[in-house]
Amino acid sequence: MPPRRPLPALRMLLAALCAAALLTPATRGQVARQPVRARRAIVASSSAFASQVGVEILRRGGNAVDAAVAVGLALAVTFPVAGNLGGGGFMLIRMADGRMAAIDYRETAPAAARRDMYLDADGNHRLEKSTLGYAAVGVPGTVAGFDLALRKYGRLKWAQVVAPARRLAREGFPVSYALAQGLRIAQRLAGDPESRRIFHRDGDYYAEGEIFRQPDLAATLERLEKRGSREFYEGETARRIAAAMRANGGFITLDDLKRYRPVEREPLRGTYRGYDIATFPPPSSGGIILLNVLNQLEGDDLAALGPGSSEASHLLIEALRRAFADRAALMGDPDFTTMPVETLISKEYAKERRATIDLRRATPSATVRAGMEAPASESEKVSEKAETTHYAIVDADGNLVTNTYTLNGPYGSGVTVPGTGVLLNNEMDDFAAKPGSLNAFQLIQGEANAIAPGKRPLSSMTPTIVFKDGKPWLALGSPGGPTIISTVIQTLINVIDHNMSLQQAIDAPRLHHQWMPDVVMWEPYGLSPDTRRALEAKGHRLEATPRYNGDVEAVLIDATGARLGASDPRNPDARAIGY
Ligand code: DON
Repeated sequence: MPPRRPLPALRMLLAALCAAALLTPATRGQVARQPVRARRAIVASSSAFASQVGVEILRRGGNAVDAAVAVGLALAVTFPVAGNLGGGGFMLIRMADGRMAAIDYRETAPAAARRDMYLDADGNHRLEKSTLGYAAVGVPGTVAGFDLALRKYGRLKWAQVVAPARRLAREGFPVSYALAQGLRIAQRLAGDPESRRIFHRDGDYYAEGEIFRQPDLAATLERLEKRGSREFYEGETARRIAAAMRANGGFITLDDLKRYRPVEREPLRGTYRGYDIATFPPPSSGGIILLNVLNQLEGDDLAALGPGSSEASHLLIEALRRAFADRAALMGDPDFTTMPVETLISKEYAKERRATIDLRRATPSATVRAGMEAPASESEKVSEKAETTHYAIVDADGNLVTNTYTLNGPYGSGVTVPGTGVLLNNEMDDFAAKPGSLNAFQLIQGEANAIAPGKRPLSSMTPTIVFKDGKPWLALGSPGGPTIISTVIQTLINVIDHNMSLQQAIDAPRLHHQWMPDVVMWEPYGLSPDTRRALEAKGHRLEATPRYNGDVEAVLIDATGARLGASDPRNPDARAIGY
């Protein structure tokens, strides 16, 4: 007997009631995309292939950390613009039993690094030196960081989480339109013979739909799979990296590789409107700025001002301006620099900073200084610890991982170590090559972030976990250099203050300010002409060419325990996949 169906009119009424119940107040009356929903687990990453790898690991009994390592390795294959073995990053973990970890596998400056290594004879910073080629590379931390995370918090064996990436590299995967275009326009890949051979096929560029196989990278992953993570730092891969460095004017030696260690740090903690926040500590500036800006904004009724309004935008810009002035003067590797972190993330300090915001006028950045004196620099001291894209995962047990890692620039320094398929980072440009001069992100940075052997460059990566009513709720992060921080802040404000769904919060247009240059960056169609006029009337300078910022990948556990996940439409290859 066929199942009984309600009458058509009743069906329509039921459908309307269900739809109304599903919509949050902010979505009512609007056409809005909703997050992906799943009962058990979700992986949201910048590449659908990598998200799928994560889901398979979870289905086979792995936890969120196992999946995070497998996804990270898979991204090195399918999202080579940023996914990597030859870079570094930050993994924030919250286990269902309450343990938390901030795994810092940021690159370090090689032992031969000197504070003036990227200056010319006249003492000027040569940006191409700190961004392109072997000399721009920091000692990679990704493989060691993943190994540490897996050993301490994972369930599966190293070989089990490496295998899917090795298979993707060996068997290949279809090139997307975005990847085909991205590879083709990456000029820095053309400048290195090995990168040109692998990624540009010596001028016979990959077209959409072609299968991209990476046999050298597959062989490297197979060595890692069989011999363990130390292979990268002491085995054949290490020897090949050191040889390529010697042959091409790089600084990293076998000894640098052997001495690299990831560091497990305490997450930074704060609150925003009753929500608890755990975020990444230094050497990221991201967590400090995130908490400081949210603290500055907490006293204002952003919901009443309205999303995208000129008043709310003004407050955000001014809070960012002040926080980035602090970044420039005060922040660097905590193992080398003393930083007033507790003060910077305190409610009292934010109140003082907020009190200097003029509601009617933009404060010119030239008049905004850090809120306190920089401590005496210790950056020449070699520390005791001198050996030194975003994705989010929730598993069936409620373990959460949120990981941002990077090659820094697109395809890093542009160089691939011959015979390994491993692209190398250009993270050295995240240091202040010359305190006070601009880096590739137009960031001015200070003495606290000067180059020194074994030191980690200051970062903006901001993997963050938010707790609602004391329970883990939302895990998110983004790429985008300094815009990472404003991107994560705006996503949180959209969800918490403006009651948007996670997907709407990510889709919504963003703006950015970083103290210097004194301009507001905004996205295409992101500010209405009258909002722009209102901001300009306050004295803000809006950047002439709007461009898109970030690629937020996020997961959320709602009050019923359902898993929600969302990917950023700014990256057409990104996908949140659940089961
Ligand atoms: O650590 C940092 O802040 C930078 N190396 C991140 C670079 C980045 O996000 C590039 N992506 N657009």
